[in-house]
Amino acid sequence: MSPTFDLLTGPRLAWAAGIIIVTAVLRFWQQLHYRRGLVRGLPGPPHSYLFGSLISMGEVISKQPASAAPQTFPLLIKNHFNLGDWFVCDPWPFGPAFLVTFSPEMMNEFTVKQSMPKHPVIHEFMHNFGGKGNLVSSEGPEWKKWRSAFNPGFSAAYLMTLVPSIVDHAVIFSNLMMERAKDNSLFRMESATMNLTVDIIGKVVLDHDLNSQRKPNALVDAFLSQTKWQRIGAQFNPMELIDFRIDIVQAWNTWTMDRYIGGLLDERFSTRSSRDEANTGKRQKYVIDLALESYLKEKAATEGTPPDKVTTLDPTFRTAAISNIKTFLFAGHDTTSGTVSYAYYYLSKHPSALARLRAEHDAVFGPDPTTAPAQLKATPHLLSKLDYTTAVIKECLRLQPPASTVRIGSPSFALHDPATGAPIRTADLMLWPVDVGLHRSPANWKSDPSLFSPERFLPTNPDCEAGNPAFAPFSKGPRNCIGQELAMVEARVILALTARGWEFEPAYAELGKLEGDGYGRREARGDAGRTQFGEEAWQVQRGTTKPRGGMPCRLRVREG
Ligand code: HEM
Ligand SMILES: *[C@@H]1O[C@H](CO)[C@@H](O)[C@H](O)[C@H]1NC(C)=O
Repeated sequence: MSPTFDLLTGPRLAWAAGIIIVTAVLRFWQQLHYRRGLVRGLPGPPHSYLFGSLISMGEVISKQPASAAPQTFPLLIKNHFNLGDWFVCDPWPFGPAFLVTFSPEMMNEFTVKQSMPKHPVIHEFMHNFGGKGNLVSSEGPEWKKWRSAFNPGFSAAYLMTLVPSIVDHAVIFSNLMMERAKDNSLFRMESATMNLTVDIIGKVVLDHDLNSQRKPNALVDAFLSQTKWQRIGAQFNPMELIDFRIDIVQAWNTWTMDRYIGGLLDERFSTRSSRDEANTGKRQKYVIDLALESYLKEKAATEGTPPDKVTTLDPTFRTAAISNIKTFLFAGHDTTSGTVSYAYYYLSKHPSALARLRAEHDAVFGPDPTTAPAQLKATPHLLSKLDYTTAVIKECLRLQPPASTVRIGSPSFALHDPATGAPIRTADLMLWPVDVGLHRSPANWKSDPSLFSPERFLPTNPDCEAGNPAFAPFSKGPRNCIGQELAMVEARVILALTARGWEFEPAYAELGKLEGDGYGRREARGDAGRTQFGEEAWQVQRGTTKPRGGMPCRLRVREG
């Protein structure tokens, strides 16, 4: 390089660097100013121009177990700063400004009366579990098309026809747990229930036996790894901004899942005519068939090709179908496994509730538990007699809800203060009706919401679901959970087949012994002896929220 060249370029480079830095700083301040403006004048925890709500949020979060799930924080922030039913927080630059509400009326304004679009964080989250075109994060006509295609596969009447195969998988689970009870070994209940709910959802979605209760399965492993490497939001864990391994692992998992499901989809497509002949008159409603059916219908409508003449799957359809199948496999097991684990946990701590549950099973199926599977297969409608069992499941969903919706506000959409009716601007705010807060706010419940009391969900209780808009574990409005009936059916079958066989004992003191198989070390270390809302089994974010450490436990064969 010649000296003249250096003389000319040196200052220019310095100038260029200077301009870039000044632009970056200006943009930072501009963003800062804009973001702080979003929440200015609205109620919230103490807030400063420079740090937003980060310091006050940190004050509350730092007192919680390190592994606690983000959705447990807003209620604690409300209590700590004595805030009302709704408030805003601004954790910029670590995350979006959000409006939290614990008021059912306000939640209804943006989920039922008007269903506001999902917040972009849902797209990011679903990117790794669903992908382009998935039902959870898509909007408008694309969402509508898939939702109507899949609805028939989740109707209450159709679900009754699935009960026999749900029972078959639950029997495998029940036998495995009986072995655990006999040797009294230490294990993670949530891992066992996950294997079970994965197998059930594999059947419902793919008409395929993933058989993950008995041996490892590549698809299941990829899903598991995906939940472990999930980002939980930089406002709660800044380290993830610099962890470059995350993207690589996630891309690999996505590739594995897509290949597995793509293979099943192609096979299902090419063998459809033989199945149609075998099932003449009977409509197939497995998710995979509903997807193919909607494709063939569309082909007929747009190109006039009759279904038996369609020989290939369009790449765009194939991608969207795989996204949706992944979404169902993910959303369909991850939430239910935690709920069932919590049911064992709470029942073990509330012997009178457990006794009442068992008495209900004795009354409905007779005193011999071994006859229950055959009875349920023959008469799935026996499930509708399990009022108390249903109430127990709802009570677990109330206290430990696995997920909440998050929506995005807009300049043309105002919410209203439930007390005064005053309008609240929502532009660019993440709107978050946090279930943990809705479900635990005394104002929303007639009997003490801090207590585990399934009785509140019995049909005649004033707190029961029909009368209580604050109970929203499956969200509300058109974007509510398509799988809610299925989840309730599964959980009832599982409890009906297992609650009478063994006693469950949580083993959090022994959590450290279970280290090493990928359930975050953070969940075991440092948090020993702590509780959140009085429970050692606080929620951690793994996919959706799950009981900490996968709910370590030992089982004992029930006596008498
Ligand atoms: C205890 C079990 C479950 C809970 C607590 C739960 C909760 C939820 C919640 C809160 C939403 C709204 C999400 C959002 O707005 O971002 C949702 C949506 C959804 N859930 Fe579930 N879910 C459960 C079980 C299931 C099952 C078994 C399936 C499977 C088939 C499923 C499939 C879906 C799908 C596909 C959506 C998106 C629906 C749409 O946007 O149209 N869920 N669920
Ligand atoms: C669930 O299945 C996986 C393999 O698919 C296995 O490693 C794990 O131990 C199982 N969980 C339990 C509690 O049996």
